[in-house]
Amino acid sequence: MGDNSIRALQDKIRSLLDKRNGILLAHNYQRPEVQDVADLCGDSLELSIKASETDAEVIVFCGVHFMAETASILCPDKKVLLPVSSAGCPMADMITAKQLREKKQEMPDAVVISYVNTTAEVKAESDLCCTSANAIQVANSVNPALPILMTPDKNLAGYTKKHTDRKISYWDGYCVYHNNLTVEQVKRVKKAHPEAVFLAHPECRPEVLELADEAKSTSGMIAYAANSGQRDFIIGTETGILYPLSKANPDKQFFPADPNMICTDMKKTGLMDVLRALEILEPEVKVPEEIRVRAKTAVDRMLAIPLK
Ligand code: 13P
Ligand code: SF4
Repeated sequence: MGDNSIRALQDKIRSLLDKRNGILLAHNYQRPEVQDVADLCGDSLELSIKASETDAEVIVFCGVHFMAETASILCPDKKVLLPVSSAGCPMADMITAKQLREKKQEMPDAVVISYVNTTAEVKAESDLCCTSANAIQVANSVNPALPILMTPDKNLAGYTKKHTDRKISYWDGYCVYHNNLTVEQVKRVKKAHPEAVFLAHPECRPEVLELADEAKSTSGMIAYAANSGQRDFIIGTETGILYPLSKANPDKQFFPADPNMICTDMKKTGLMDVLRALEILEPEVKVPEEIRVRAKTAVDRMLAIPLK
């Protein structure tokens, strides 16, 4: 698609957003042309906060299913649209509510912290929610006498355990993309760019995180690079982040730890999908009220925890 047709589609989307009193939220991994038309690009925490605060009537969520569900959990009176309904998160599907209920019977005292990358049904069975930006603070908010069960990401749980004194058990889930990044790949890129700072997402394996200068959420990486005196960075996360990183830091260089780390689901949404969704106000994501109310308790508890 040429620049002119991209701009024409973006203009149509913006005018329909005005007409519908809508807001467009895009995750940092979305395609550049989708990020460019958004009201806000961000990580899961920022997008959840924005969804909870907006007075728009329609939220177009360019991301994956659990993100739109979280917006629906927080804003039951708004219409939440996920332009491509099949955009999901394989990690979120690695635990079901039934499996979690069974696990809770084995660990009746455990406080369950579920990553925001879970279904609404799993959040409804959880005590607290967390994101990659606040997992340590969320774990630290739990009574130290109680064991914690973190689901579904074993890597985020391992990272959190390393940075708290809480007793943390994990579910055996993982991100199929982040978990594939190897020490050998990182060492190769480090050798090519010996001066570069290595930023990794906490969804990476523990041995990869060992090599990182910092573990950060996607927006945490953008903020870190902006505030750093360094010029070169190796980035250990999905490659969509390279666009907002370079946009926010035009004088710096970013090298992917693995140029093939591409989340297929995050790339499903195109401008035509966004336009169609706004025209027909579908596909809508709506969480059944009985589940929504319980899931909201876990999300609200997370949102009440200060980041520092
Ligand atoms: P962030 O919340 O850090 O943006 O991560 C979301 C995600 O799905 C990472 O794979
Ligand atoms: Fe899920 Fe991984 Fe894609 Fe993030 S990058 S949405 S965790 S599959």
